[in-house]
Amino acid sequence: MNERHFLSPWQEATGYIIYPDAFYDSNGDGVGDLQGIIQKLDYLHDLGIDLIWICPFFASPMDDNGYDVSSYYDVDPRFGSNEDFQAMLDKAHSLGIRIIIDFVLNHTSDEHPWFKKAIEDPSSEEASYYYFLKGRRTEKGIEPPNNWRSYFSESAWNKVPGSEDTFYLHLFSKKMPDVNWSYPPLREKYFEIARHYLDMGVDGFRLDAISHLGKDLSFSDSSLPVGPDGLVLDPSKYANREDMYQYLGEFKEKVLSHYDCLTIGEAGGGISPKQSLRLTNKYNGLINMAFNFDTAWCNGAFASIDRKDEEIYTRVIELKDNFKKWYDETRKDVEALPIYWTDHDHPRALSQYGNVEYRKQSMKMLISTLLFSYGVPFMLYGDEIGMSNVQFDKPEDFYADISSKNEVAYLRSQGYSDSHIAHYLCRTSRINGRQPMQWNSSDNAGFSIKEGRVKANPNAKEGVNVLDEEKDPDSILNFTKLAIKLRKREENMRFLRYGHYDLYDHNHPDVYGYFFELNEEKLVVIASFSKHTTYFSFHWRPTDVILHNYDDFIYIDHVFTLRPFECIVMKAY
Ligand code: NOJ
Repeated sequence: MNERHFLSPWQEATGYIIYPDAFYDSNGDGVGDLQGIIQKLDYLHDLGIDLIWICPFFASPMDDNGYDVSSYYDVDPRFGSNEDFQAMLDKAHSLGIRIIIDFVLNHTSDEHPWFKKAIEDPSSEEASYYYFLKGRRTEKGIEPPNNWRSYFSESAWNKVPGSEDTFYLHLFSKKMPDVNWSYPPLREKYFEIARHYLDMGVDGFRLDAISHLGKDLSFSDSSLPVGPDGLVLDPSKYANREDMYQYLGEFKEKVLSHYDCLTIGEAGGGISPKQSLRLTNKYNGLINMAFNFDTAWCNGAFASIDRKDEEIYTRVIELKDNFKKWYDETRKDVEALPIYWTDHDHPRALSQYGNVEYRKQSMKMLISTLLFSYGVPFMLYGDEIGMSNVQFDKPEDFYADISSKNEVAYLRSQGYSDSHIAHYLCRTSRINGRQPMQWNSSDNAGFSIKEGRVKANPNAKEGVNVLDEEKDPDSILNFTKLAIKLRKREENMRFLRYGHYDLYDHNHPDVYGYFFELNEEKLVVIASFSKHTTYFSFHWRPTDVILHNYDDFIYIDHVFTLRPFECIVMKAY
């Protein structure tokens, strides 16, 4: 195993999310790859990153860009080789960077040998690895076994090819059959895979879709109101169910507890702080941390096909309430909370909560608040240069994301026009979080000599790229570098890690004011989410300014006059 020298405990790490397909292409085929990541590790190290979560890069037909795994033990050739993987780990470790890989354990690809065997021979062992059920006979013919909708719009059931009435369950695309965690030998298969990678030296896992490991095995219909197609997304049937805790407990006992590793579960599905504590409490929790999605969509954009543009704006109070709720209800019992504004499944943070007309100011504000929060922050690749949403005008431009593609089909079936759908997807599609990384202003943003799966954002030619920003002392990139450095300083980190967090003026509709109190000292953050001038009464005495996205501040008679997206991080008493 290679040498690992980490400078700080993982609770103090600064995280970065890489979507490998879109990060950096080292061999000119239009696909980002592991050698590309290796080449950019020095850049990330220089930025101050010391923890990287890399989205899947294992063998896959790429229906969902790697979340549909067809071999867990092989790097997909378009991303490189198993040797490249080891080389990437070695180089990261030599720089003091931890790497956690995305472990997809709720489903495989339908091209995984297990699934192929299962449908070829229904009496095989592999047939028990999946959920197969007979459909319902109705006057319309054979229909899926129940009314569950998948997370990618369609029915959660698809007919087994060649069969008249047997269906398999898939909570994501139909090329991603769910595996049956209630079957113990299947669980052992996943434990073996995990051991393999931990033995190789990976520092842990981002555990994909763990909320869904347990299902309602009665497979009864959901009683929630169904959509026009008779289907309904009902997390109570397949998210955060009791069985999930049992399976993860076994995972911990048999595998995780034997290694020094970091595990972050993707615990969406509307998980509550209380449920998440069962997963992550520091006494007998099953994994280290769990991502929730509560702060990712506080702007009205989710499922906003019928909303006008004016209805999409940051709900600052909702955002504050969510941060506060997670802190208050979990802090004393966890080692840390993972936080991000958005990841590869969301729009770009800048477009979601900032404003492209105030690119620098608003992204610097979002970087400041993210880095000066409680927990382990994760930036999505490109946040550090202010990447923003796409401006596509055709639904087909979003087809590189299977979930958007399915959504287009559904919305068309509901009568929405193509221009309406494209406009909506520009603000909601996962494509936004999967654009080519903008390295310079050349073609394809310097990501590759060839066009990638997603077209590069033209704003790369207007200065939104690493090379140009490196040269500009006032750039988002240089600001981010400074912010990470300041966050890591012991005199600041101690507030973030051990201070007591609370809101300052909860009811202010545009400003997220908060502070960390430690031994009667306070580290305060005042962040405006508005593009208009706004006022913020503040009755403590500001002392040192730690970080600020404007050159001076206006503070008269206990009132800050905040310019668009102004954000001040300071000490006060
Ligand atoms: C969550 C991942 O983040 C997402 O990209 C993927 O489509 C689903 N899980 C299914 O694996």
